[in-house]
Amino acid sequence: MSKSLLVTGGAGFIASHFIHYIKQKYPDYHIINIDKLTYAGSETNLKHITYSENYDFIEGDIADEQLINDIFSTYDIEGVIHFAAESHVDRSIKDVKAFIQSNVLGTAVLLQAARDAWNKAGELHTRRFHQVSTDEVYGSLELDGGGKFNEQTPYDPRNPYSASKSGADMLVKSFGHTYGMNVVTSSSSNNYGPGQHAEKLIPTIISNALQGNSIPIYGDGKNVRDWLYVTDHCHALDMIFHHGNALEKYNVGGGNEKTNIELAMTICDILDHLRPGHDSYKELITFIGDRKGHDRRYAVDDSKIKTTLGWKPFTTFETGIHKTVEWYVEQWEKIAP
Ligand SMILES: NC(=O)c1ccc[n+]([C@@H]2O[C@H](COP(=O)([O-])OP(=O)(O)OC[C@H]3O[C@@H](n4cnc5c(N)ncnc54)[C@H](O)[C@@H]3O)[C@@H](O)[C@H]2O)c1
Repeated sequence: MSKSLLVTGGAGFIASHFIHYIKQKYPDYHIINIDKLTYAGSETNLKHITYSENYDFIEGDIADEQLINDIFSTYDIEGVIHFAAESHVDRSIKDVKAFIQSNVLGTAVLLQAARDAWNKAGELHTRRFHQVSTDEVYGSLELDGGGKFNEQTPYDPRNPYSASKSGADMLVKSFGHTYGMNVVTSSSSNNYGPGQHAEKLIPTIISNALQGNSIPIYGDGKNVRDWLYVTDHCHALDMIFHHGNALEKYNVGGGNEKTNIELAMTICDILDHLRPGHDSYKELITFIGDRKGHDRRYAVDDSKIKTTLGWKPFTTFETGIHKTVEWYVEQWEKIAP
């Protein structure tokens, strides 16, 4: 459908995988990647494509209206896939301002610039704006018998991060209704894979274990998350961007619900095999005080994307978590004394 795509937040975890995926599958697409390179963005994630054809990197802030308008007048942007966000819940609990600035204001600035440029091109109703969102907007489920979130589940954000993503999703929807923009939104469960920032749960478990430090697990460790391998998410985003219906929403799940303690145990088993020590790494697991407003369980019903677009995840949890742990161990071995 589109040849010139603006990808926001492309130096981050998911979007850098997405750019690799798109460049392999659609080599003639021109990708323009805007990223502010916050602490979470890493040019290393993109080192293999920095000098490749059909690729431009712009260091900048999506909330900078002048810059975003300039990008839309310099390039004939035919689609936006919007990932850029402050994404760490713990940081949002400490200070919410950056989350409002990037996640809400940044989304509004992008929407306005796309609306104006596409209106001028006479393609307001055809060019697509894809909002990449999270299952956290739906709130929290009970541990047992709590069902799953579907696309009709009302939003019920419980922390400042998910509130800011909810605000952004609502703005996107409103631009679809108010101006007839061709918007689509996807909400995925927790992603995992190589290249995630060190502060997130899986890299934290691995790096603490490898350093012989205690592995911190919030509360009783029974909070449940559904884990989606990052390239399966990229495949879903490709299908939603190209074939999803305007103004609709698609949930994307991994089908791998795990308690945090189960996840930590699994990672320790893999590390015990890859880098055996005297004791099992499990000895390092330590329960710490719970996160404020810690949602108990997230799980999405993703039957819509499976039945209407034919998507399914290819990576089993066993394969994905092995590949992930192996990647972090390799990185660790490059820098370890
Ligand atoms: N990681 C997950 O499990 C998950 C699950 C569901 C949805 N999501 C959503 O997917 C998107 C990407 O998540 P991620 O985990 O890859 O995030 P990340 O934190 O790894 O990357 C975010 C990127 O956005 C950039 N960025 C932040 N603010 C910016 C701004 N104002 N202007 C330009 N760039 C900015 C950062 O520099 C970084 O490169 C987010 O919108 C997030 O809400 C993530």
